[in-house]
Amino acid sequence: MFDGEAGEAARQSMEILAALGKIYGAEKMVPVSSVQVSGVSYKTIGRAGLEYLEDLVSKGARVKVDTFLNPAGMDREQWREMRIPEDFAGQQLAVLEAYAKMGIAKTCTCAPYFVGIRPKKGEHIAWAESSAVAFANSVLGARTNREGGPSALAAAICGVTPYYGLHLEENRIANVLVDVRCELKSVGDFGALGWAIGKKVKRKYPAFTGVDAADEPRLKVLGASMAATGSVPLFFVENITPEWKVADDAERITFTEEELKDAKGNMDEGQKPDLVTIGCPHASLDEIKQVAEMVAEKKPTCEFWVCTARKTKEEADRLGYSEKISAAGGRVVADTCMVVCPLERMGYVTTGTNSGKAAVYLPNLCKQKVAFGDLEDILYR
Ligand code: F3S
Repeated sequence: MFDGEAGEAARQSMEILAALGKIYGAEKMVPVSSVQVSGVSYKTIGRAGLEYLEDLVSKGARVKVDTFLNPAGMDREQWREMRIPEDFAGQQLAVLEAYAKMGIAKTCTCAPYFVGIRPKKGEHIAWAESSAVAFANSVLGARTNREGGPSALAAAICGVTPYYGLHLEENRIANVLVDVRCELKSVGDFGALGWAIGKKVKRKYPAFTGVDAADEPRLKVLGASMAATGSVPLFFVENITPEWKVADDAERITFTEEELKDAKGNMDEGQKPDLVTIGCPHASLDEIKQVAEMVAEKKPTCEFWVCTARKTKEEADRLGYSEKISAAGGRVVADTCMVVCPLERMGYVTTGTNSGKAAVYLPNLCKQKVAFGDLEDILYR
């Protein structure tokens, strides 16, 4: 089955999957329809990661299923304009080249579901980025565990993943019931809810009641924030998500107006940002449109980026949104995000966000102070 040079990478990959399956008691492997590979930014994988990928390429690694990448450390086309250091850019391009040689599309997005990669309810996939995993499981009803970089890549090369955890129907059940007792008005409110609940529930699966309406941009921020402060790969929202199953003995907690205010206050260091970053997870076309309209009306008081997938940026360019954003001092940035690019080497000190996930990672991974709030606040402080 694994003959010749190409066989070596496949054999090594199957060994990784078999070891994982053994640890988690998987009775078999299940075919996956798509794979999302993390470990794309040179900032997070470094020299050792690049060498690992080049070694796999030399052993003939080729993916068997639709495989796409998480954000890289820079926009592949605008990295000079973004002031990405040249040494970093060289290494980042080498990482992308190694993945391309394996047959992986240079999608570089954490919101693939906005660019046509939308698995159906019940479909088995192997995705790696925490917010994408939460969205796929919870909002689309697809089935994935949160894969690590090597296990996702192994799944891509072999076309299968061990059948355990969230691939099994019986494990897709909430064990915390969260009664939301306040009105959630903005994306920032959903980010704050996720930030607070992730801290409380940690690795459990929450089910929310009391949320009247939530579109996909709000749900993606809710999931991303919970995945950052906790490690939540699955959640339900009553009458909104495609699945709703709560254990009889689920723990019951509430989320009040006061907790919403506290969460927002805790994330915000109260300073004026040098840079506001929008699109964590990556922005949809509609979100870019809303930003373009807002900044065309009133110019922000600081530099700002809207992070998105390249395909979405191309649409935004075509529809004139990117031009409006540029005219207001901003930039639509593709392939990357505020956390995985080397922000700490680019002279920024305080970064603004409306995402609970970015608020968690910006201090640790980018040495930034955080200005957290709704866009109307942080863009005009
Ligand atoms: Fe995506 Fe980066 Fe946020 S990978 S979820 S934009 S931290």
